[in-house]
Amino acid sequence: MCGIVGYVGRRSAVDVVLDGLRRLEYRGYDSAGIALVSADGRIEVDKRAGKLANLEAALAEHPLPESTCGIGHTRWATHGVPSDRNAHPHRSADGRISLIHNGIIENFGQLRAELEANGVEFLSDTDTEVAAHLLGREYAVDGDLTEAMTRVCARLEGAFTLLAVAADDPDTVVGARRNSPLVVGLGDGEYFLGSDVAAFISYTTEAIELGQDQIVTIDREGVAVRGFDGQASEGKPFSVDWDIAAAEKGGYDTFMAKEIHEQPQAVADTLRGRIDEAGQIVLDEVRMSDQDFRDIDKVFIVACGTSYHAGLVTKYAIEHWTRIPCEVELASEFRYRDPVLDRSTLVVAISQSGETMDTLMAVRHAKDQKARVLSISNTVGSTIPRESDAVLYTRAGIEVAVASTKAFLTQLAACYLVGLHLAQVRGIKYADEVSAILDELVAAPGKIAKVIENLDPVREMARESAGSDRVLFIGRHVGYPVALEGALKLKELAYLHAEGFAAGELKHGPISLIEAGTPVIAIVPSPRGRSLLHDKIISNIQEVKARGAKVIAVCEEGDKITAAHADLVIETPASPTLLAPLLTAVPLQEFAAELATALGRDIDQPRNLAKSVTVE
Ligand code: M6R
Repeated sequence: MCGIVGYVGRRSAVDVVLDGLRRLEYRGYDSAGIALVSADGRIEVDKRAGKLANLEAALAEHPLPESTCGIGHTRWATHGVPSDRNAHPHRSADGRISLIHNGIIENFGQLRAELEANGVEFLSDTDTEVAAHLLGREYAVDGDLTEAMTRVCARLEGAFTLLAVAADDPDTVVGARRNSPLVVGLGDGEYFLGSDVAAFISYTTEAIELGQDQIVTIDREGVAVRGFDGQASEGKPFSVDWDIAAAEKGGYDTFMAKEIHEQPQAVADTLRGRIDEAGQIVLDEVRMSDQDFRDIDKVFIVACGTSYHAGLVTKYAIEHWTRIPCEVELASEFRYRDPVLDRSTLVVAISQSGETMDTLMAVRHAKDQKARVLSISNTVGSTIPRESDAVLYTRAGIEVAVASTKAFLTQLAACYLVGLHLAQVRGIKYADEVSAILDELVAAPGKIAKVIENLDPVREMARESAGSDRVLFIGRHVGYPVALEGALKLKELAYLHAEGFAAGELKHGPISLIEAGTPVIAIVPSPRGRSLLHDKIISNIQEVKARGAKVIAVCEEGDKITAAHADLVIETPASPTLLAPLLTAVPLQEFAAELATALGRDIDQPRNLAKSVTVE
C-alpha cells in the first residue's frame, strides 16, 4: 500500500519520480505528491488529492524548479481522509526536511502528543507527520540525515518504509524499512529507491533487496546500507528478469485485459523446467530436500483474497494426491487462534506480492512455532519469500491490475507442483493418476488459450447482467473456490453484490436471495468420472431455476445435460476435475471485467483498493 520512489542522479528528478509513480500507482491512488531538492538548498513540494493525473496536471501548469534529487509518493489512506493536506510528502516544522511513508506508525498518538507539548504544530491528520517532525529535530542536532534517520527509527513502532530528503543536502535520499517494502535500483552514476522494482524498471534491471530494519543512503557516489543499530550492512543484489514492455499495456485497453491474455504463457513459464523428462517434479530451487517433504505430516495454507482461493483449490489436490491433512486459513485470522503447529507441519504461504502484511505475520507466527514455511510468490526479493524457509516463485511477470488474474492461475500451477511433488517423494497410492495429471498440467496452457479465444459470449452475458443488483456464484468441490473467486472479482471491479456459495449450502439459507432474473453462475464439474458431483450440481441448478434464477453454467464442452438445464452455457475444454480451476476461473475474470466496464468502473484501479496490502 502506497508507492514510494526516490532518485539521485543526472536526470530530471521530476521525470524519473513521476515515471516511477505511474508504475507504482497500483499500490495506492487516492493522492500523490513529490518533493524535489534544488541545488541552491530549497525543497519544493507539490501534492494533490486524487489520482496521479491531478498532480501531473498541477505540475504541468506550475512546474517545479530543475532538480536531480527527489522523492514521490502515491497514497492509500490509513490515517486521515484523502486530501491535499494529508497527501505525502510531509515537512518538518522548519521546512528543511521532506518525508514520505508507507505503513502505519503505531505509536504516533503518543509521539504526536509529545511533539505538540513541545510546541510543534501539525498540518495533517496522518501518522506520518510525526516522523517528519522527529526527523527535522534530529537532523538539527548534527546535520547528518542518515544518523538522524537512525535515531528516529529507534523511536518508531509499527510498519514503515520512510524516505527523506534535506534541503541542505541536495544529492542525498535516505530510506528506512521495517515490515514494509523498499528496494534499491543501481544505475550508472544514478540510484533509485522504490516500493518495488517497477519504480525504476525504465532505467535499470539491477537491484538490491534490503533486509528488515535497514537504513539505506543513496547519493551520486553510490549506496550505503546499515542496520537500525547503526552497524554497516549489505543488501542482496539481484537482477530483474522482466523489462519495461511487461509494465506497459501493450495495445490492450486495460492491464487486466492484457494480464488475462498473458495467462497461457504465465502458466507455461511457471511449469517450465520443473518437470523432468522422466515425469518427476524437480523443485531443487525451493531449498527443501525430499526427506524434508517426507517428514511432513500436516499442511497449512495461509493467504488472503485471491491467493486464499488458490489455497482452497490446493487443499483438494494435496489431500487427494498425498493423503496428508491440509487446512487452509485466511492469513489475517491464522495467528490469532493459536493453530496447532510443530516441526513436521508445512505452512504454505501464498502471496503474489510477497508483501501482504497479514500473510507475513502468519509466516512469522508459523516460524515462531517451529513449523517449516514454504512460500509461493510472484515477487523476487519481497519480504515473505525472504523470511520463508523455502520459496517457489510463480513466473507470471509483473501484475499491474489490482484484480488478480494471471497471478491466480500461476499460483494454482505452482501449488499443483508442490502437491504432486509431495505425492511423488512420499510414494502414494495414486501413482498412475499423478503421472496422468502431470501430462494434463503440461497441456493446460493450450487449453487456457482456447478458453481465452472464446470469450465473446461471456462478454455478451456480462453486458446483459449489468442491470442486476446481485450475481451469485455456485460450485462444488474445486468449483466452490472458483465460485468464491468469481464473486470476489465481480465485487472488487463492479462494486456489485456478488457472493460465492458451495452449491449444496444454498438450501440452508442463501437461496432466499434468488428473485426472478437473478443471475446465478454455476461452475459445473466434468460429467465424466465424478458424475455424482455433476448430478448434484444439476439438482442445485434446478433448485435455483425453480425460483426464477437465470443460470449461466460454466461446464465442460459437450456437456449436454448441463446445456439442457442452464439458460446459457460457457464451455471449457475437458480437464481432470482437480485441474479444472485453471480453465473455469478465466471466463469469470472476463465476466467481471466486462460487466464492470459496462458500469463505467475503473478496471485497473477499483475504488478503495490497492494492489499490495502492507498493513494489517
Ligand atoms: O499479494 P497477495 O497475493 O498476498 O495479495 C492478496 C490479496 O490482497 C489479493 O489477492 C486481492 O484479493 C486481489 N486484489 C484480488 O483480485
